[in-house]
Amino acid sequence: MKLKGCIFDLDGVIVDTAKYHYQAWKKLAVMLNINFTEEDNERLKGVSRMASLDIILEIGNMTPDDRTKEGYASLKNRWYLDYINQMMPDEILPGSLEFISELKNAGIKVGLGSASKNTPLILECLGIAKLFDAIADGNNVSNAKPDPEVFVTASKMLGVLPENCVVFEDAVAGVEAALNAGMLCVGIGSEKILTNAHLVVSGLDKMSLRKLRVFAKRPDL
Ligand code: BG6
Ligand code: MG
Repeated sequence: MKLKGCIFDLDGVIVDTAKYHYQAWKKLAVMLNINFTEEDNERLKGVSRMASLDIILEIGNMTPDDRTKEGYASLKNRWYLDYINQMMPDEILPGSLEFISELKNAGIKVGLGSASKNTPLILECLGIAKLFDAIADGNNVSNAKPDPEVFVTASKMLGVLPENCVVFEDAVAGVEAALNAGMLCVGIGSEKILTNAHLVVSGLDKMSLRKLRVFAKRPDL
């Protein structure tokens, strides 16, 4: 493939917010007397706020009405905001800034594709709001991953065709979204979990432009 654009997921790829999402959801689960574990939390990665709440309520066998659900979701978000408002640039995951600046220096467009409505705030706290050529997030996209909308929107904003894009994702739903968009996908995390990604590395500190170019030239892709 001809590599022209890279699109990064935010939570779990650029910054480890999963632990804050977990702590905030856990607080809600405790309040509702639901036994929600760290293992269950894996299913929430990449999934929208309301879909995450539905998973937790399903674990607890609860079916509240929509207004009550809205209340639970905003309560969780308030607790989550308490954590992320304290975040500092040193929480940017290792290798992210180096890799992204290598891409930019090589003229490769760099976009962000996240389900999170809190994306602008997180980028602000981390001091990287200006880093991306395009940002598609929970505020300008309506269909959650595994729907490809967020990545297709980011590629359009970048002016790069999907077949010329590589996505970096840590969530199963996000890998599926990238594949549904017709893009190559580098999984960030474990090969055992991200089985459908075209390549898996443990973090962006294991990526480089050279490695990406070799990957993009793979004849099987
Ligand atoms: C994704 C996270 O990036 O954003 C999910 O992986 C989260 O865990 C989703 O539920 C929505 O985030 P927010 O910030 O809009 O509640
Ligand atoms: Mg993620």
